[in-house]
Amino acid sequence: MEPIIAGNWKMNKDPAESRSLVQKLLELVSDVKERAIIIIPPFTSLPYVSEIIWNSRLRLGAQNMHWTRQGAFTGEISGLFLKQLGCEYVVIGHSERRHIMGETDEVINKKLKTALEIGLISIFCVGETEQEKQNGQTEEVISRQLSQGLQGIENEVHKLILAYEPVWAIGTGKTATPEQAAQVHRFIRARLKKNTAILYGGSVKPENVDVLMAQQDIDGVLVGGASLKPESFARIVRFSIP
Ligand code: PGA
Repeated sequence: MEPIIAGNWKMNKDPAESRSLVQKLLELVSDVKERAIIIIPPFTSLPYVSEIIWNSRLRLGAQNMHWTRQGAFTGEISGLFLKQLGCEYVVIGHSERRHIMGETDEVINKKLKTALEIGLISIFCVGETEQEKQNGQTEEVISRQLSQGLQGIENEVHKLILAYEPVWAIGTGKTATPEQAAQVHRFIRARLKKNTAILYGGSVKPENVDVLMAQQDIDGVLVGGASLKPESFARIVRFSIP
């Protein structure tokens, strides 16, 4: 399986900034082979980024979508519209959506089902909070997120990408140690019983990507902050196993 390197820009980069970031990135990674590189800009930048990368190795993803195909849902976006703009991937259940926007496991399950139906590959995020970690509930929380999120689609889980993102490590500079991350990845792998790619996310940087990617059950990384600078994201794409 090709290592997957995904850059989630979150609510950063207007169209002009997005264009310049992705143009620079293309120059820096044009010779890289055997990596699946996924760019996940904000909705408003998708058409611009799509136009620039359409003939390249870079793939396009969106940060969220609604669970229905169309209708009276003011302010929401259909996965079908995202596909029309060239998206192949969509992030579902990111911790910022769960914790700031109040998305439940039930909503996440509906979105995962719709994405499967319309042919978008979900990057399905799970992870425990700092408090849950301190209480020793990491496996229990992830187990719940997996069983409720995947209800009715367990047999299709190989069509998704999983992302383990400990909430305490997102945007905080605190990365899980490679051993901590690997342990949870092993747990998820055993729980899924299918050959699904599992990414690690949470303060991934040029300085820690090599050791993270050296772990057996880490198939790629989902990068936030460090994907906003072309040089640091390109360095992450070019990780080398120590
Ligand atoms: P971070 O974000 O790399 O800035 O910690 C990761 C994510 O939220 O996907």
